[in-house]
Amino acid sequence: MRLLIMGAPGAGKGTQATALAERYGIPAVSTGDIFRSNIQQGTDLGVQVKAIIEAGEYVSDDLTEAIVADRLAQPDCAQGFLLDGFPRTMHQVHFLDEHLSATSRQLDAVVSLQVNPDALVDRLLERARIEGRADDNEDTIRRRMEVYAGQTAPLLFHYERQGILVDVDGTGTVDEVRERMFAGVDKHTGK
Ligand code: AP5
Repeated sequence: MRLLIMGAPGAGKGTQATALAERYGIPAVSTGDIFRSNIQQGTDLGVQVKAIIEAGEYVSDDLTEAIVADRLAQPDCAQGFLLDGFPRTMHQVHFLDEHLSATSRQLDAVVSLQVNPDALVDRLLERARIEGRADDNEDTIRRRMEVYAGQTAPLLFHYERQGILVDVDGTGTVDEVRERMFAGVDKHTGK
């Protein structure tokens, strides 16, 4: 299985990616997690991206694509993968299309989690209170949402045109969303 999970900041991508990856026995690859782990470890990459992420902007396509290319070349991705938070720009969409075509593979489904903006802000402010994630403050959350709406939401049309978009209502409990998502992906892929 080769899957994407997309959605606005706080839509539940990371939460549901874990369940989806486990269900299909594939690795979940989150570009946000890779960046945060590099920031935490103080690597060169972490130093390069820290201020960008804390401002709610996107890391450059070149840097992000290099990281994804590296990760997808690992043996555990040979039989499939779930990408969380990638692609986020049209440039990244083309990069992924080229990667898949070079390996004679295609995406099985793209999960799109939908949650209304007020609920997203509430979730992220609550996480700021509990975990203190650096980009979970009100100004940066608003900026992340704007960037998502301008650059990433339109990409859903690309996958809709390919007939692989699976829309999932991302509201309700984590368990309810998970079951809805599993049903949607199963129905779409017939697996
Ligand atoms: P990334 O980590 O991908 O951040 P994001 O898209 O803003 O998403 P979040 O991680 O905040 O939310 P999520 O949708 O994963 O939801 P989660 O499950 O955590 O990226 C961070 C930054 O890295 C970007 O802003 C950018 O700078 C950079 N970046 C990453 N990828 C990039 C790329 N491809 N190109 C360029 N730059 C890139 O849930 C959120 C909260 O809600 C949690 O507390 C969770 O417990 C809670 N929650 C989840 N589900 C529910 C539910 N059903 N009900 C109630 N609460 C829930």
